[in-house]
Amino acid sequence: MAERKDIDLRAAINAISDVVQNRPRPLREMDQIYMKTGDMVLQSEMVAKWADKKRLAFIGDGDAISICVAYLQHRGILDYGPSEIKVFDFDERICRAIERFADKERMETLSSQLYNCLDAFPALGEFDCFYTNPPWGASNDGASVHVFVERGMEAVGNSGEGMIVIADDHELEWPQQVLASTQRFALERGFFIQKMASKMHLYHLDDAPDLRSCNLMLKSLPGLDAPSSSHPITDPDRLEHFYGKDKHIRIRYVREKKRVDYGQAHDDEYHYEVFEGESNV
Ligand SMILES: C[S@@+](CC[C@H](N)C(=O)[O-])C[C@H]1O[C@@H](n2cnc3c(N)ncnc32)[C@H](O)[C@@H]1O
Repeated sequence: MAERKDIDLRAAINAISDVVQNRPRPLREMDQIYMKTGDMVLQSEMVAKWADKKRLAFIGDGDAISICVAYLQHRGILDYGPSEIKVFDFDERICRAIERFADKERMETLSSQLYNCLDAFPALGEFDCFYTNPPWGASNDGASVHVFVERGMEAVGNSGEGMIVIADDHELEWPQQVLASTQRFALERGFFIQKMASKMHLYHLDDAPDLRSCNLMLKSLPGLDAPSSSHPITDPDRLEHFYGKDKHIRIRYVREKKRVDYGQAHDDEYHYEVFEGESNV
């Protein structure tokens, strides 16, 4: 294997800082809870290595790990990374923020598509690996995780690898139940657990600031049949408590109202109080 150069940590952190400036503000009711910046740096490096030269699909990506991975490679901070990255997310603000960043930096390997994971998956088998940090299924024993994972398996056409980022806390009961049910789900679908990197990431989560997530890595068994078609998911049992207790899934798309520069204060956040004799404009 070729030698890998040391990473310039300052350059990497500053690059991730550019990405964080571009992230739309999270919608808590849809479980958008962003990963902390230091963990994003390490996670992006790991994902770039894992998906080196591969076509990578993100099933949802509020964290913007997709942009980080593409940008670190594009800037030459990493000399490895995926050959193509596409994000499927139901939030138009996230999709457009990705497109704008890719356009500004002329990153041709990165794109996005507005997509709700209850709908049939539009790109069956077009990828080699998938990444998802889904709603963590605390109130439905992981059913919402399984919906995102199923779409990831379709993205790779049942032949490839997946990285699932979900809660990992051995003091709490629900994360352990969800980890077990997700591993069962993967095994039932012909994927096996390659590796689990425990308690890797922290989040901007007010009510549980110490709750961490792990990377659960899957791989398909050889010789699985490729899915011939994809179908909408309508089974009510899979959709209950999707984003938490009594929060079922009712929104198809989050639409962008106006183009916002996320790195700047918005004029509805503040007003100026001027010195006497100064005009207010
Ligand atoms: C639910 S959040 C999970 C927490 C994660 N740290 C984050 O904020 O990205 C993951 C991503 O899934 C997207 N998402 C949520 N529900 C979705 C759905 N029904 N279809 C497609 N994407 C969805 C969100 O917009 C977000 O980008």
